[in-house]
Amino acid sequence: MTETTKNPSLVIGLMSGTSLDGVDAVLVDCSSSVPRLLASAWLPYPPLLRTQAARLQASGADELNLAARLANELAQKYAEATQQLLGMAGVSPQAVAAIGCHGQTVRHRPEAGYSIQLNNPALLAELTGITVVADFRSRDIAAGGQGAPLVPAFHAAVFGDPGLHRIILNIGGMANLTDLQPRRPPRGFDCGPGNVLLDAWMERNTGKRYDADGCWATRGYVQPALLEQLLAHPFFQQEPPRSCGRDEFNLAWLTSYLEAALRPEDVQATLLELTASSIAEAITHWCGIPDELLVCGGGVHNLALMERLRVLLPVRRIASTDFLGQPPDWVEASAFAWLAWRTVHRLPGNLPAATGARGPRILGAIYPA
Ligand SMILES: Nc1ncnc2c1ncn2[C@@H]1O[C@H](COP(=O)(O)OP(=O)(O)O)[C@@H](O)[C@H]1O
Ligand SMILES: [Mg+2]
Repeated sequence: MTETTKNPSLVIGLMSGTSLDGVDAVLVDCSSSVPRLLASAWLPYPPLLRTQAARLQASGADELNLAARLANELAQKYAEATQQLLGMAGVSPQAVAAIGCHGQTVRHRPEAGYSIQLNNPALLAELTGITVVADFRSRDIAAGGQGAPLVPAFHAAVFGDPGLHRIILNIGGMANLTDLQPRRPPRGFDCGPGNVLLDAWMERNTGKRYDADGCWATRGYVQPALLEQLLAHPFFQQEPPRSCGRDEFNLAWLTSYLEAALRPEDVQATLLELTASSIAEAITHWCGIPDELLVCGGGVHNLALMERLRVLLPVRRIASTDFLGQPPDWVEASAFAWLAWRTVHRLPGNLPAATGARGPRILGAIYPA
């Protein structure tokens, strides 16, 4: 039977990350301190939409018009994902309190005072009949923050344990972590590239979207000179709070260091090592070795990457967030459902220790149903 009575705790989270793989959609019950995942759905981006989103990552002709059109297309996809999710859950739109929709990042330049997530929240509210909360990052940036990462507040609420030093590592297109230490305020920051370079190099050389399980990377050999050059990117030396995006780490940046003689699989092996070692270095340098490292995001499925993290980090337990009952593919989308719930209740969502903002802020803009 379809649930139609308005439930103020039922919130949808829609996440579309820098990987440009598609839309993660979750239905979450926020009535208790640890939000409960009720249903999930994934909608892949059609190839044309991916190409358009990738093109808009850099300045180009007619970009305002192209961005507005893509925002409309994205809103259609977000609505489709919402309908699929609600159909699976047997819940009607009238029962849902809000949608938290992240949008698709095409620029992240907090130092210039902005971060752009393409979206048309007005259209999404119109198409779904549900209140939409969007544009989560701008207010934090206006308050002097990086506008990212925003998931640490959620990680702290869900994974915090007063007796354990726990790190939650999200390996999406970019990698970011939340450091949860007993008797300390939670901190969080971006580590650098997650899957973004691995995906880009894989696609250029094989036509496949990603290196399943990291198999292709394991057929190559790490090139120490190339690795050293890539690790010299100034972002890796930057003190947190810090955040990054495709603006820093992209195929053009990578290829500027490549020599013709390199075998493509050796480059892939080196990129895998770049991701693993920059994450390991960030943990060792800024957080210290935790009792537990719990991983979420698509990178957790890259077995070769997880294996390298196990070798590089002497952590007692390295596991997926599944270990604490949160399926790793849905953590980020759940975070944006939870953030929307906080906004609707006029509660702050940012963690100033993670973003560098002057203080806690209520995030986003509300588009009533
Ligand atoms: N089986 C797998 N093996 C290796 N990598 C995987 C696998 N499954 C997913 N991934 C990686 O995860 C990425 C998607 O991760 P996701 O958390 O959705 O990132 P984002 O939040 O940036 O969209 C894919 O692009 C791919 O690189
Ligand atoms: Mg994704």
